[in-house]
Amino acid sequence: MQGVTILGATGSIGASTLDVISRHPGRFRVTALTAQTRVKELAALCAAHRPELAVIGNPDLESTLRDLLKQAGSATRVASGTAGLLEAAQMPGAHTVVAAIVGAAGLLPTLAAARAGKRLLLANKEAIVCAGALLLDAVRAGGAPLLPVDSEHNAIHQCLAGAASHAGVRRLVLTASGGPFRQRTDFTGVTPEEACAHPNWRMGPKISVDSATLMNKGLEVIEASWLFGMARDRIDVVVHPQSVIHSMVEFGDGSVLAQLGTPDMRTPIAYCLGFPERIDSGSASLDFTRLGALHFEAPDLERFPCLGLAYRALDAGPAASIVLNASNEVAVEAFLAGRLRFTAIAGVISEVLGSESPAAPTSVDSVLAIDAAARRRAQQAVVRYQ
Ligand SMILES: NC(=O)c1ccc[n+]([C@@H]2O[C@H](COP(=O)([O-])OP(=O)(O)OC[C@H]3O[C@@H](n4cnc5c(N)ncnc54)[C@H](OP(=O)(O)O)[C@@H]3O)[C@@H](O)[C@H]2O)c1
Repeated sequence: MQGVTILGATGSIGASTLDVISRHPGRFRVTALTAQTRVKELAALCAAHRPELAVIGNPDLESTLRDLLKQAGSATRVASGTAGLLEAAQMPGAHTVVAAIVGAAGLLPTLAAARAGKRLLLANKEAIVCAGALLLDAVRAGGAPLLPVDSEHNAIHQCLAGAASHAGVRRLVLTASGGPFRQRTDFTGVTPEEACAHPNWRMGPKISVDSATLMNKGLEVIEASWLFGMARDRIDVVVHPQSVIHSMVEFGDGSVLAQLGTPDMRTPIAYCLGFPERIDSGSASLDFTRLGALHFEAPDLERFPCLGLAYRALDAGPAASIVLNASNEVAVEAFLAGRLRFTAIAGVISEVLGSESPAAPTSVDSVLAIDAAARRRAQQAVVRYQ
């Protein structure tokens, strides 16, 4: 039985992971589950999956979680705060850790899991965007593999499986759905509900807004540069509205390999959980007779300036990626809370990127310091843009 810990169990990736795990009762057992504030949902997941440990990130909710589990007669132990999240990430009984916390908040537990030698299933792209070199060092030191959950990077991982070395790769092609506003030209008055109404995927609110601005694709270009050791000029983005091709690799001989499937995160999650074996994910088969045509177009950097900002950050070096991510998190949070216009998200990020030029981080502490400084500047910019 493979012990699996899920950091961010109450989210969209957490739910999909637990769905796949439930299909293989003899193969996986849940060791720990974590959440930040959704304490009732976490307690319900504990009742269903009976982990050894449940962690609520917000320490004020620890006693509520304890009471809920006691009422349910659960034997699950309870912890909270950063110490609890770090404990969950390193549990001795866990073979695999699914890093599915949203945002840079997932960085410390993700690093801890990698260092502890857990097989790391990485959904938390912000962690690798902020601390790519440190995370890859931690994975090497821990000695267990990192498997990408993000559907694009998962597709590339699958396409590269047969390659003797990445030297034969000409370029990576990340596909982007284009999000809910692919054909929209006037972004005045965009609401959080509209921005979160993704045409193909059901995801948490932060990544949904990132998909609407195309910042998600920008973060993924940075993620791909770390995961596959590729320079920016060998990572292309193409808009593919059907989200059937999840990404592609072009090799030196001109061959292009693509990974296809229905848009369902259970597919990449099952690939990672079962690797190197293939296990059932529960996803529907692709019906080619009903699919019709597949479309492709170039991303529009004028309507979606966030993608260009991510390129700018990647060119400027690792510290700029931290600034990009932090200012984006602040701007998206403000947009979701109704404190910032959709069109001002890129303005806030651009302003903070232009005003900060910190040195490349050499430690986790320096990553956190750059992140905190950028968040302060972004908060000030949000107030000005209101
Ligand atoms: N959803 C997708 O299809 C998808 C696809 C590819 C990659 N990803 C990546 O996977 C990650 C998770 O995405 P998601 O869509 O699953 O997000 P989500 O639905 O918003 O879930 C986020 C999870 O993280 C927890 N969390 C939030 N803030 C936290 C904090 N400060 N400390 C500790 N835990 C915290 C949440 O707990 P509460 O529920 O208590 O708030 C929840 O369990 C993101 O990095 C995203 O980019 C997602």
